[in-house]
Amino acid sequence: MRLLHLSDTHLLGDPDARHYERIDTAAALRGLLDRLDLTGLDLIVHTGDASEDGSEASYRLLHEILDPVAAAAGAPLVVAMGNHDAPGAYAAVRGPGDRGDAVQDRVLVLPGGGRVVVLDSSVPGAGYGRLDPEQLAWLREVLAEPAPAGPAGERYGTILALHHPPLPAATPLLEALSLQDPIALAEAVAGGDVRLILSGHYHHPMSGEMAGIPVQVAPGVTTVMDPLAPDGIERAHALSGATRIELAPLPADGPAPAPRVATTVLPSAGDTHGEPSTPAYRYDAETVAAIIAAAGPPRHRPTA
Ligand SMILES: [Fe+2]
Repeated sequence: MRLLHLSDTHLLGDPDARHYERIDTAAALRGLLDRLDLTGLDLIVHTGDASEDGSEASYRLLHEILDPVAAAAGAPLVVAMGNHDAPGAYAAVRGPGDRGDAVQDRVLVLPGGGRVVVLDSSVPGAGYGRLDPEQLAWLREVLAEPAPAGPAGERYGTILALHHPPLPAATPLLEALSLQDPIALAEAVAGGDVRLILSGHYHHPMSGEMAGIPVQVAPGVTTVMDPLAPDGIERAHALSGATRIELAPLPADGPAPAPRVATTVLPSAGDTHGEPSTPAYRYDAETVAAIIAAAGPPRHRPTA
């Protein structure tokens, strides 16, 4: 199975608006798609922050750009909700989630075998991520049955997609805006057939594992973060990246021989060719603290 993993397109409903007063996010997405090899794709996963402003217009734009790509590739598209997304607006454009409300938790069974489970880790008005007990109960229920096999008996298991990575973050800002209680997620997937977890949010490529399951974080389509910036500075550049992942079918019985998952990161390319670029943003420690207080979980908020 070959899948394209995109994340953090931050599209704007107003075509004249610019992200960080500079980035035309629709042009960034179109530009990225233009330089990708889209042959042989079985699935396109967008791991959230599809929109910057949470407008219905931004979601219509998202599907106007991605649906023809998905149709041409013959690959279904799934979209997870991120902290900038508005599940209600997305539901108005694309319909409710599988649990019957605006929360965008979904299961998609793939025609060639396997399935994708999408979890909505967004918290209204916040930057950090959370999964409610109801979502985790639903996930356990879904995973109680293994993913269907393909027409020739191929077994691919389950791919889990959620915006906030269940991985420790590389910077203080990202750590404060990370997924709360990843252990609860690890417990919910225990014993199930999840074999790959896809996330975004951090805006830089990253890989790791949660409870023995590989986790891949895609770089941002709109900006790529500089996770090893010195001196407490948090900065990102006007670059775009994506990943393509090859997933081999699971063997009929016995443990899977390695390697079964291969990830190729499209190197970031944009407006810096050999020259230091002007970052899309550059936050000093004071700004980082203000963002954490506004968008992090309640424990980071100053008490009066
Ligand atoms: Fe995000």
